[in-house]
Amino acid sequence: MNIRFSIEEAVRKRVSVRNYSDRPIEPDKKLHIQNFISNTKNPFNSKIKFHYFELNEEVKDQKLGTYGVIRNATHFLGASIVNGPFALEALGYEMEIVMLYLASMDIGTCWLGGTFDRKGFARALNIGEQELLPAITPIGYAQPHRHFQEVVMRTVIQAHNRMDWNKMFFLNDFDTPLTKQGAQDFAFALEMVRLGPSASNKQPWRILWKDGNFHFCEYKTPGYSNVFPYDIQRIDMGIAAAHFELACKEKGINGKFVFDQKPDVQLPQHTEYVYSWIYQAQ
Ligand SMILES: Cc1cc2nc3c(=O)[nH]c(=O)nc-3n(C[C@H](O)[C@H](O)[C@H](O)COP(=O)(O)O)c2cc1C
Repeated sequence: MNIRFSIEEAVRKRVSVRNYSDRPIEPDKKLHIQNFISNTKNPFNSKIKFHYFELNEEVKDQKLGTYGVIRNATHFLGASIVNGPFALEALGYEMEIVMLYLASMDIGTCWLGGTFDRKGFARALNIGEQELLPAITPIGYAQPHRHFQEVVMRTVIQAHNRMDWNKMFFLNDFDTPLTKQGAQDFAFALEMVRLGPSASNKQPWRILWKDGNFHFCEYKTPGYSNVFPYDIQRIDMGIAAAHFELACKEKGINGKFVFDQKPDVQLPQHTEYVYSWIYQAQ
């Protein structure tokens, strides 16, 4: 996939937008967005179906809702999958890349995995019986100010905060934190992961650097995914893969994702191995 925007700039610019202005998305930008979406790929060998749509009267009549969380949005992007190994990670990966692309054009988005009328949207988008619609995002220009409910929500989940390095990144085993200096050339890619969005800002990423490779594990927040028909934090794991890989590519560092290289180390409680990124010298 050909990425023509600065990852760092896009990662730092992207922030959840829940209050949208009336400014329409320009027709040429719409075409660029649709073109970009149709060219996204993922390293998880799983197919994602994107659904780009505008709320017209017909759809509006179906009273599609976001429980007051999203205000004034008229454009949406949904992503559906047939659930299977790494399908949620693949969705997180591709959709996040689209959202970074939109951020690079100053167009706002907000991951919605919980606060939307999933059945109503799935019906309106003709999502098949075998498919899941794990997430949608509004797309549009932001209002200058957040709405009140959004401000409260962000405060409750501490949406501006990110965990410190020593809670997330480790060297050789999970008892030894990896410092920014210690991460050397990979400090940038790890920092890009750290700044990523995650469901309720839980930041489930636990990454171990061992023997030159990075092993991505998921801290499964106890009870958190019980309200979903799938593990929503697997989407966060896909987002981490996108940030890590794009950041490495931007720095000219090569590697690939593999799924069978679980490191031989003791994992912390509630933590599960998901995938590895293997360094490939040029
Ligand atoms: C998989 C996923 C699902 C999310 N679901 C919702 C949601 O249902 N409603 C919502 O308002 N925000 C949702 N968010 C947004 C997060 O709350 C937000 O990304 C996080 O608090 C960090 O804030 P930021 O995006 O402004 O950096 C979701 C994020 C992710 C990654």
